Amino acid sequence: MPRQAYVNGRFVPHRAASVHIEDRGYQFSDGIYEVVPVYKGIVVDEDLHLDRLDRSLGELRIDRPCSRPALKILTRELIRRNGLTNGLVYMQVTRGVAPRDHKFPKGAKPALVMTTRQVKPHSEAMLNEGLKVITIPDQRWARRDIKSISLLPNVLGKQAAAEAGAYEAWQLDADGMVTEGTSSNAWIVTDDNKVITRAASHAILNGITRISLIKLIEANGYRFEERAFSVAEAKAAREAFLTSSSSFVLPVTQIDEVAIGNGHAGLLTGKIRTHYMDYMESLGAAS
Ligand code: PDD
Repeated sequence: MPRQAYVNGRFVPHRAASVHIEDRGYQFSDGIYEVVPVYKGIVVDEDLHLDRLDRSLGELRIDRPCSRPALKILTRELIRRNGLTNGLVYMQVTRGVAPRDHKFPKGAKPALVMTTRQVKPHSEAMLNEGLKVITIPDQRWARRDIKSISLLPNVLGKQAAAEAGAYEAWQLDADGMVTEGTSSNAWIVTDDNKVITRAASHAILNGITRISLIKLIEANGYRFEERAFSVAEAKAAREAFLTSSSSFVLPVTQIDEVAIGNGHAGLLTGKIRTHYMDYMESLGAAS
């Protein structure tokens, strides 16, 4: 069966799926999104993702397109139709379709689009040798906590990374402190084996992987601190890694031209990744 998408109330073939040219997402980026991982058939941290979806909608005063139970049913149905075992469910909600006018339209219904994408497991080389990241100025707006579909600085940053042969770009605030990657959160491990990531605020997206990993790090007794770190501290760190719904936990072994630690994936990073992979599997056993 060809891949399907869900568009405003209907399942349609992915290649034929389309929205109206006056959808406010298309014209104004007036919408939000979520990316929910599916691992071994398990929808990972679904409620945390839907909590963040609700929060993003609330911050932008966009109505919910449907109830949470309905969204969960749609998610499962799309996963089933597309035979998805490992990958991502993408869901996007915009303020709806209306004649182009900046202020909120009266009576527009929020538009909901959902797609799925298969993702291949990360290669052994990636896990052992780690990834390169570059650093760039953070050019985004002041409400990065909202998972807005307005992603132009992220797109430009990821393109700059790709052109530099890197996987990700870590963004730096005006003080030279790392905010986060263009589509992932940033972490380091200090010489005394303390795991550090920036505290949640308007300056970063509070990643769901980040939230669950903090719980795991604390439950397993590792030393941990939420605070900002500079690019200089990151370059001198013992280990570095990044997290997201598509990357889970991936080692970072080069920042700009500087090798991190011994240039290979960090030991603690590997342990933490294993905890996270085990955690995702445990969610299946629980459901
Ligand atoms: N990106 N920071 C940014 C700017 C992000 O876009 C993302 C997620 C994260 C990590 O969040 P989470 O752990 O909830 O995936 C942090 C998704 C995957 C994307 O845009 O494709």
